[in-house]
Amino acid sequence: MEKKRILTGDRPTGKLHIGHYFGSLKKRVELQESGEYNPYILIADVQALTDNFNNPEKVRKNVREVAMDYLSVGIDPNKTTIYIQSMIPEVAELTVFYSNLVTIARLERNPTVKTEIAQKREIFGESVTYGFLGYPVSQAADITAFEGKFVPVGEDQLPLIEQCREIVRKFNSIYGDVLVEPEAVLSSGKRIKGLDGNEKMGKSLGNAIYLSDSEEEISKKVMSAVTDPNRIKKDDLGNPDICMVAYYHHLFSSKEEIKTVCEECKAGTRGCVACKKQLAKNMIEELKPIREKRAYYEAHPEEVDKILMEGTKKAREVAKQTMKKVKQAMKLNYFE
Ligand code: TRP
Repeated sequence: MEKKRILTGDRPTGKLHIGHYFGSLKKRVELQESGEYNPYILIADVQALTDNFNNPEKVRKNVREVAMDYLSVGIDPNKTTIYIQSMIPEVAELTVFYSNLVTIARLERNPTVKTEIAQKREIFGESVTYGFLGYPVSQAADITAFEGKFVPVGEDQLPLIEQCREIVRKFNSIYGDVLVEPEAVLSSGKRIKGLDGNEKMGKSLGNAIYLSDSEEEISKKVMSAVTDPNRIKKDDLGNPDICMVAYYHHLFSSKEEIKTVCEECKAGTRGCVACKKQLAKNMIEELKPIREKRAYYEAHPEEVDKILMEGTKKAREVAKQTMKKVKQAMKLNYFE
């Protein structure tokens, strides 16, 4: 039997950080290595433009940065098809067709869109663009163009998948049973807090450690991580439960190390600097293979471009097949 296509993707608005790594990238590599699926990853540059339309250079640059991040963590282009959204015109075409099947009120009620609009006041002011409000329609096109059955996503994306399912049902009820209704699969990845203790790690928050960060950058950032504010002198008794360094030790250090550093912190026998140094060392070690692979691709941009070109070409063939069925169903196949 043919393997089920699964579709994931990211907006290329910045390099990927360890929040992405623990949140989704590790899971994607796992799914890829299971051999049970036919995975596609889209670099959603069109979607990135919906809230970065005034910054095309940023989107362009980050398409390649994100591609290099994927390759460095172990996304294997022989097993996973990586493609660029804007180079699949069928997806844009589908978006136009689907836009008749969704109301403005329904889009305005989409919780993900609502949250984002509230966060992006500085871009949109009081009134949001047609393109941004409609990006769930475009995302429905992304998914259905590939007949994606499973979409592994984080919780924040669930309303987008639900909206896609509604569009699919509406399409199929009007034009016939053509589109595949996707299911969201919650990726069991963790949500990683920022260096400052913020619930979210993010570029705009300035609290992220990037997969591309150098050893020096990692050390510097770890040194700046927020620790127990009540611990002023080294022999003050610390509370690891409110310390970001302890939090990251749980992600990067061995069980014994975690036990030792936490006990010594509570007893006031280990200072924060020593604890941070140990964390930085472990983090540097764990991320080393990723950093090395990334350095390789940074030195070979032509290989990255080739992977993107081939992936996009392959993806487009799939989208063309879907488009053919869609046009037939919508009676737009005039000369057949
Ligand atoms: N909305 C996703 C994000 O912001 C990116 C994305 C675009 C996507 N199209 C998709 C994710 C299709 C899964 C499936 O990260």
